[in-house]
Amino acid sequence: MKILITGASGQIGSYVLERFVDKHEAIGVDLKPCPIRDLRDLVFQGDLRDYKFVREIIKDVDAIIHLAAQVSVENSWNNPIDDVENNIIATINLLKACSDHGVDRFVYISSAAVYGNPRYVPIDEEHPKNPVSPYGVSKLSGEYYCRIFSDSVHTVIIRPFNVFSARMDPNNPYSGVIAKFISRVKQKLPPVIYGDGKQTRDFVNARDVVDFVEITLKKGEKGKAYNVGTGKETSILNLAKAIMDIAGVKGKPVFDKPRKGDIKRSCADIFKAKKLGFKPKTDLRRDLEEIFEEYASD
Ligand SMILES: NC(=O)c1ccc[n+]([C@@H]2O[C@H](COP(=O)([O-])OP(=O)(O)OC[C@H]3O[C@@H](n4cnc5c(N)ncnc54)[C@H](O)[C@@H]3O)[C@@H](O)[C@H]2O)c1
Repeated sequence: MKILITGASGQIGSYVLERFVDKHEAIGVDLKPCPIRDLRDLVFQGDLRDYKFVREIIKDVDAIIHLAAQVSVENSWNNPIDDVENNIIATINLLKACSDHGVDRFVYISSAAVYGNPRYVPIDEEHPKNPVSPYGVSKLSGEYYCRIFSDSVHTVIIRPFNVFSARMDPNNPYSGVIAKFISRVKQKLPPVIYGDGKQTRDFVNARDVVDFVEITLKKGEKGKAYNVGTGKETSILNLAKAIMDIAGVKGKPVFDKPRKGDIKRSCADIFKAKKLGFKPKTDLRRDLEEIFEEYASD
């Protein structure tokens, strides 16, 4: 099976490509070159907003894992048109090309941002969709297009929660907090927490997301959406304490003003994913120790 991974130079996409090259004929596409040297030759540079380019790269492909996106919530407010083009138009270009050229499998990486402020936790897939940023709206629109095209393309939607890995970008709105805390403690400074630190997130290792991408590619139901997370809530305060402990930084975190619009609690209900065979292996403490080592050695 020939698989195209979009956003293959990004955090999650590079892990997906890395896993898939061993098992399939896998190639990637991204706006920028892949920072992972061993993958660089497999990633074509190009822009998914350009339909002609999209039509060319999907030729001979059997399946697409679509991860490419503009992922910054802040950018989505500053430049909502750019967000629409990268997140919605690019997705439509891919779906239209798949539909016209008989590419049958399409896994769309959406986001937990489609839920907005949760009315209850854990959040199941039927939870109301009420995005609170242009980014959340564009990710949700992509989902609707996947559903619309599901007559001709077998589309499956994945909604990751807060993905982290050694390749995370400090500016990434999901995992940025881990990268920022690590960078503070590496300078022997305490992490800065906005608000009281009681806000929670479901931090899931990128490796688990890749596991679930593999599962959905085989078993995902057409037109259906699946959460991917761990089902465990971690408070930002406990995260800060764990990272300080790993780094041997004494004292207390610094507390700053709460951030406007910060979601209070977030945690995935992963019942549907588990039914497909998903078993998350994330162990936050162990994984943070591992990532800390990798960060520390660069
Ligand atoms: N990181 C998380 O915690 C998280 C959580 C929920 C959902 N997601 C989703 O997962 C996907 C991957 O996220 P990530 O953390 O790896 O982000 P990332 O920014 O590291 O990767 C996204 C990649 O997409 C590429 N890209 C953007 N626009 C493009 C275009 N027009 N043409 C070609 N390439 C383009 C970027 O260059 C980048 O390399 C995104 O769709 C994001 O919405 C991520």
